[in-house]
Amino acid sequence: MLIRIKKKSDAQENQVTSESIYLNRRQFMQRAALSTVAMTGAANLSAAIQQGNTRAVSKQLASHFSSIASTSYGADEKVTPYDVAASYNNFYEFGYGKDDPAKLSENFITDPWNITIEGAADNTGVFALEDVVKDYQLEERIYRLRCVEAWSMVVPWIGVPLSSVLKKFKPTSNAKYVYFETLHDPRQFPGQRGGNIEWPYREGLTIAEAMNPLAFLSVGMYGSILPNQNGAPIRLVVPWKYGFKSIKSIVKIRFVEEMPQTTWNMLAPSEYGFYANVNPGVDHPRWSQKQERRLPGGFLLPNIIDTEMFNGYQEEVGHLYTGLDLVKNY
Ligand code: MTE
Repeated sequence: MLIRIKKKSDAQENQVTSESIYLNRRQFMQRAALSTVAMTGAANLSAAIQQGNTRAVSKQLASHFSSIASTSYGADEKVTPYDVAASYNNFYEFGYGKDDPAKLSENFITDPWNITIEGAADNTGVFALEDVVKDYQLEERIYRLRCVEAWSMVVPWIGVPLSSVLKKFKPTSNAKYVYFETLHDPRQFPGQRGGNIEWPYREGLTIAEAMNPLAFLSVGMYGSILPNQNGAPIRLVVPWKYGFKSIKSIVKIRFVEEMPQTTWNMLAPSEYGFYANVNPGVDHPRWSQKQERRLPGGFLLPNIIDTEMFNGYQEEVGHLYTGLDLVKNY
């Protein structure tokens, strides 16, 4: 089912769909063969639940996975292998090493999961995860993910448009920004027991950014639910911004009038801006942003590619920043 008009930044439709399906199926089979906890597509997902799979999945969310709409959102690069996307992570709540999240998140409890909606909206309160997403068709979208550290991946996410979910809460005209917060639970997150970061992890978007059709709330990837290390059970994906904006394991969404404080901006404002749009013209003070390393490759050509303005999504989001100085407002 196609639910969006194709944009220049998309790959050829047949290329994306067939490659995605092919890779997903192939990865599903590999994962099923390799791992007893692999949950691979709707049929295997419910089988896994019946078998009392160790990864807790709410039944409502699992049944939602029985129908995932393919879309024309895609990228003309190859999808990053699942094993790479699920083992090379930034999730500082679990530690600073790239492999810490996969190693230390196995017992992270994601069910039940509630999300608190606060602030300038008519419909606020505490909502079960299922109730937040159940009214919407799950979609697969293949997006490039560009980390501020200058590596990148291409990930097939499953989720719902952020705008659809936000509209459900009826934001008022005072809602100029949307603030997001990750779970704060040092018992489960070893990284939250110390370090420089003022927990919980926080992020924010302008309301126009949040309502842009590209902004996505992900509950899965590669055809299945999100692995814990990738931000289970629900995370943001904003593909035209550096990866740190894509906050994981969200428990709070607040509609606010003022620009909210965000984790990396609070920690090092001269290095990480609020907007954090991917921009090869604005170097990080300590390294260039002109190029990126496409994982799983090393530091040599052809794995080193040019970084594109807005990560290649200029056509979709460029208008959001008309008149804004993108160097000053990095
Ligand atoms: N969200 C939380 N709560 N904690 C984090 O440390 N890291 C961010 C972002 N979301 C982070 C987070 C960074 S720096 C990146 S690049 C992406 O998650 C990485 O997402 P991935 O591990 O799924 O590739």
